[in-house]
Formats: sequence, C-alpha cells, structure tokens
Amino acid sequence: MYELSGVTKQYRRGKETVDALAGVDLTIGEGDRLVIKGPTGGGKSTLLQMLGGLDRPTAGSILLDGTDLARLGEAKLTAVRGRTIGFVFQSFNLIPTLSALENVETALVPLGTKAPERRERAADALRSVGLGERMRHVPSEMSGGQ
Ligand SMILES: Nc1ncnc2c1ncn2[C@@H]1O[C@H](COP(=O)(O)OP(=O)(O)O)[C@@H](O)[C@H]1O
Ligand SMILES: [Mg+2]
Repeated sequence: MYELSGVTKQYRRGKETVDALAGVDLTIGEGDRLVIKGPTGGGKSTLLQMLGGLDRPTAGSILLDGTDLARLGEAKLTAVRGRTIGFVFQSFNLIPTLSALENVETALVPLGTKAPERRERAADALRSVGLGERMRHVPSEMSGGQ
C-alpha cells in the first residue's frame, strides 16, 4: 500500500526552478490498479519516479507499506527497488547481446538468486507470456511486441 502526502518535486537548473509536482496526496491500496493521465509535462513520469524509488521528492513523504521512500538510505532503497517494485519501461531497455532468457534473468542477479533457479523462473515468465519458443533469440531476432 502506498500513502503519499504532500509530495513536491522541484527540478533546479541553475537559477531556474521547475515545479513538477506540487503537493500530491494519494493512497493506493493493495490490489488497486491505477492509471495516471494528464497533459505532457504534467508530472506523470516524475510521479512514477517517486513511486518507484528512482528519485526523491523535494518535500513530502512516500510511504510504501509504512516505510518512507523519501527518507530511506540509498542501499535500502536499492533493496526495495530490487525486491518490491517491478518496472516496465516505455523503451525496452533490453541488452542487445543477451538472449531473451538472459535478459529476463538479469533482473534476478542483484537479488543473489542462484543460476538454476534464475533460469527456471525466467523461463517460466517467458512461457507465461507465450515466448517459450523465443528464449534463445536476441532482441533483434524478435518482433517489437515480443
Ligand atoms: N530533470 C529535469 N530537470 C528539469 N525539469 C524537468 C526534468 N524532468 C522533467 N522536468 C520538467 O518537469 C515537468 C514534469 O515533467 P514529466 O514528469 O516528465 O511530465 P510528463 O511525464 O507528465 O510528461 C515538465 O515541465 C518537465 O519539463
Ligand atoms: Mg512522461
């Protein structure tokens, strides 16, 4: 569960200040699905970066199951990102020289998952989205959607 309170983000560029978020209060419950809509430049990506622990707010708190991501040390924040949060980025961010299987496996490397389990879980994930036959393909050998 997320509880955001007064989340503010200002980007500073020299003397110029950009107010990207101005006091966002938001609760996201367990099992909720949320769509964030708004005009370009409205702060959607900034808000996602706050929720994902990729960046910190200028002010306010971001409680994820009671832990304030805004105040968490870098090492603990890295652990939260690795274990608790999943990202699907707008651009693929796939490593071109690795196979589909190896690309999926890389997400488990920082967690210290042993190679056989890593391989099995990555293969299961790929099968579950219908890519069982493409595990050995590198990204350039697959379609955009795949
Ligand atoms: N790193 C940055 N430095 C300065 N201004 C930024 C930076 N990133 C985004 N902005 C500005 O913050 C505002 C919100 O941007 P963003 O969150 O990317 O909007 P959206 O994803 O809704 O299009 C915009 O006005 C944008 O120009
Ligand atoms: Mg955006």
